Amino acid sequence: MKNTVNSFREAREQGKRLAMLTAYDYSTAKLEDEAGINGILVGDSLGNVVLGYEDTISVTMEDMIHHAAAVARGAKDALVVADMPFMSYQASVYDAVVNAGRLMKEGRANAVKLEGGVEVGPQIKAITAAGIPVMGHIGLTPQSINAFGGFKVQGKSEAAARKLLEDAQAVEEAGAFAVVLECVPEKLAQMVTSKSGIPTIGIGAGAGCDGQILVYQDMLGMFSDYTPKFVKRFAQVGDTMRRAFQDYILEVQEGSYPSREHTFQMADEVLEKLY
Ligand code: KIV
Repeated sequence: MKNTVNSFREAREQGKRLAMLTAYDYSTAKLEDEAGINGILVGDSLGNVVLGYEDTISVTMEDMIHHAAAVARGAKDALVVADMPFMSYQASVYDAVVNAGRLMKEGRANAVKLEGGVEVGPQIKAITAAGIPVMGHIGLTPQSINAFGGFKVQGKSEAAARKLLEDAQAVEEAGAFAVVLECVPEKLAQMVTSKSGIPTIGIGAGAGCDGQILVYQDMLGMFSDYTPKFVKRFAQVGDTMRRAFQDYILEVQEGSYPSREHTFQMADEVLEKLY
């Protein structure tokens, strides 16, 4: 069954937890979709795990459109959400609407996600008014990493916790259909979830959220530059890939690959005419 913004709302009402993962290409999106994932985020974590940048700041609209379109082709039932990259929405409401529209028209996403709380309320309002569903993202917002001064858990002091509650309310009032809570203490995330009228999707925010999201390379053990505390390795696919690459190199070097079963043949009579 196709996941939609309505099925996300219904899942929360029925107490059914939502599972989301990131994907950046057709094959991975297809596998996640076949597994029954509710939503696929084409995250700007693309910058870290696919493009090899040290943060998400350099990711462009063209990068996001290119990868969102590939994911959209692989996802049949999952809701595809595309991240709005750094500076595609911060400078003006006009930029926000135009760039959200591009992610839908050219990237074929079903919704967009953008980072921030109270300060991006006007952008969320204008994008939703244009008929584009918006997922909010509060707590640790990696595009503001230079302002945060590093990857830190957010909302630990009273002032920071109040700010997070205000941000959650602002994002909901502006019209977001769901909100990501990143790196937030479990009890604060639970409080946001209980006060919220829209599904909360946690990453490093404990089990009290309405859903969870992880970067797929993290949960498959394919990315080892750094591993946040909240990541659980559900498989060691990185090790399996490395071993397969080594086996391939060895077989090529010793000449055992390709064998007859992987080789095309032709009639000897035709071949003889060539001599
Ligand atoms: O870009 C991303 O992958 C994200 C998730 C970590 C929520 O924003």
